[in-house]
Amino acid sequence: MQNSAPSPLAALIQPGQFIGWTCRLDYEQAVVFTSDLWKARARGVPHNCFLLAPAFDARPAASADPGEVILLRVTGAAPLPLEDEVLQARIRQLKTQPAPSAETAPAGGPDNDFQFGGLGCRILGTFYLQDGQLRLGSDIESYFQAPQLAVYRPTGPALEAIVNYISPERAAAAREEARRLGLRGGLPRFPIGTVRYTSTDRLHRGEPGQQAVFHLNAVDFLARRTAVFGMTRTGKSNTVKQLVSVVMHTSRGSGLKIGQIIYDLNGEYANANQQDQGSIAEVFPRDTIRYRMLPTPGFELILNNFFTQIAEGHTTLKGLIEAGKIHRTADLEAFLNMDFSEPGRDECSSDAEYNRQFGNFRRKIAAYQAVLARAGYEPPPGFKITFEAGAGIRNKVNPNVDPAAGLTPVQAVEWFQLARQIQEELITASGADWIDPDTNVLMNLLLQRNDQGAYIPGFRLLQPYKDYHAPNRTTDVCDEIYQHLVAGRIVILDLSVGDPVQRERLGKRIAQHILRHSMATFNSGRLAPHIVIYVEEAHNLIGRNEALTDIWPTIAKEGAKARLAIVYATQEVSTIHPNILANTENILVSHLNNENEVNELAKYYDFRDFATSLIRAQNVGFARVKTLSNPFVIPVQIDRFDPDRERRRAAGQPTS
Ligand SMILES: Nc1ncnc2c1ncn2[C@@H]1O[C@H](COP(=O)(O)OP(=O)(O)OP(=O)(O)O)[C@@H](O)[C@H]1O
Ligand SMILES: [Mg+2]
Repeated sequence: MQNSAPSPLAALIQPGQFIGWTCRLDYEQAVVFTSDLWKARARGVPHNCFLLAPAFDARPAASADPGEVILLRVTGAAPLPLEDEVLQARIRQLKTQPAPSAETAPAGGPDNDFQFGGLGCRILGTFYLQDGQLRLGSDIESYFQAPQLAVYRPTGPALEAIVNYISPERAAAAREEARRLGLRGGLPRFPIGTVRYTSTDRLHRGEPGQQAVFHLNAVDFLARRTAVFGMTRTGKSNTVKQLVSVVMHTSRGSGLKIGQIIYDLNGEYANANQQDQGSIAEVFPRDTIRYRMLPTPGFELILNNFFTQIAEGHTTLKGLIEAGKIHRTADLEAFLNMDFSEPGRDECSSDAEYNRQFGNFRRKIAAYQAVLARAGYEPPPGFKITFEAGAGIRNKVNPNVDPAAGLTPVQAVEWFQLARQIQEELITASGADWIDPDTNVLMNLLLQRNDQGAYIPGFRLLQPYKDYHAPNRTTDVCDEIYQHLVAGRIVILDLSVGDPVQRERLGKRIAQHILRHSMATFNSGRLAPHIVIYVEEAHNLIGRNEALTDIWPTIAKEGAKARLAIVYATQEVSTIHPNILANTENILVSHLNNENEVNELAKYYDFRDFATSLIRAQNVGFARVKTLSNPFVIPVQIDRFDPDRERRRAAGQPTS
């Protein structure tokens, strides 16, 4: 026999890790006959661990003919079926069968019978060689009844080979995808954790240096959907940080610009805080742009120009005034409850009615802009306030100007003040509906008089909030963010401060902007930029009750076309829209606390194998991972996000 390096198939088998024999095998399941001694020698057989059963003899002295190796996952204990006579005979024979190597032979003696037991396993597939390459079929092609197969628990390099296995087809597809995506060099993959089967990990993982490292393939995440599930404080955000880092290193290493935007609800990605070891912003300072709703050093303002983004500005003011516990006059109350949405043609019974409502709407906006100007909000340069007023009204208020041609903010303030002063006269001449009640309220605020003519603070109440208005913002904040993403930067929207309603609106508007622009690029036949969007508390955005036409479900469903990837995190699997979950390519899940959630997840891939372990093991960062490249679910202890290591990696230095 030639003494050459073992084939990749033979290398999977570690003689010292022998744990027993198969005593029953079919297409789906296997029962493994094992003994206490064999288990102890192999440092235990944890629930859910991988086992290998070579269908050739793996003893060094035996034939090196690589047949195939069956991959099993332990799913529980299996009572040895002693009622079955054939099996009884088999078991009798196995008890006396010499183990593959002398030192793993079980001790004989009177207690012998007590140390044997059965392990129930599910067949995950079959490893074999083709053209010298390791391949894994996802089933078993054929099996023999008679021969028992020796069974081993793989560790170290053999285990790494199993959990990082990618089929040649998938690797070829990923390379093709990488080429299409514009990635240079080999397929980027990054270590993110080590294999872990159970919460108690005193034995099976060995010493830190011996643990089997699990790698993520970056290509799996681009233009794909990824779910991160788990109860609170079990490491979802930590996993998201790892993903952001993987994508950033991929982008830098391959010369492909990949923009990333994080909807950071708790401010944990933007800031280092006491609970967490580090923030993304610290690790990639040059490539990270942070946005906030409050002026803060180191942050850009996610603020809008109140003169041009009417509804956003009004919502901000409303939130601030309501939080300010100011005494509310009837006019102030009416101002807070105003709705600045444009009337829809469909909601009006006739064209005439629509024109009337639209004219009122334009005047209301104009009066609001005049109130802002009067309160000292700086208008954009050259800003004109434009609205229609009938000839009768115009002649009475000020015959020298035509509001339809645009008034300067100062002229508009004067116009509305005058109109308010001669309101009675205007009503007598043109009827009460020359102006709608909201515009009337806005004119009251402008003149600081209520309908009875008594003093009210009016526009002065808006003066303290001028900081929330961004007069110099000539571009829409959404467009600015999009340009950062196109340039391959990380944008963190720190949404931990500011009004919740406002945050939601703004978040949606940014998402809409990204989708619209990327789709437009795609539809025009050009390549859309790569963007990964990270959202937390995803049940609020892509919940099962959301219409699939809403912005977030649309991004999740159709974004991939326009190279938009979404990574969504939530505690609740069952609340995610089933249609979106079914189309999610990567799933990482840590502890779940009830069967309802686990059952929902068990519908996908082989997560059912982990049903009990997901509920029982509450360890932080202990995840079960199914990515596009992995043929089955792999239990992994995710590494803690370590800013120092990430910085070293970013600088091209060794990381361990
Ligand atoms: N893999 C890990 N190894 C070690 N510590 C971790 C790991 N993952 C997270 N942690 C730590 O556990 C704590 C909670 O993690 P994290 O914030 O990621 O949880 P979460 O699931 O996002 O929680 P929440 O539901 O509150 O957002 C943090 O202090 C974090 O540093
Ligand atoms: Mg979190």
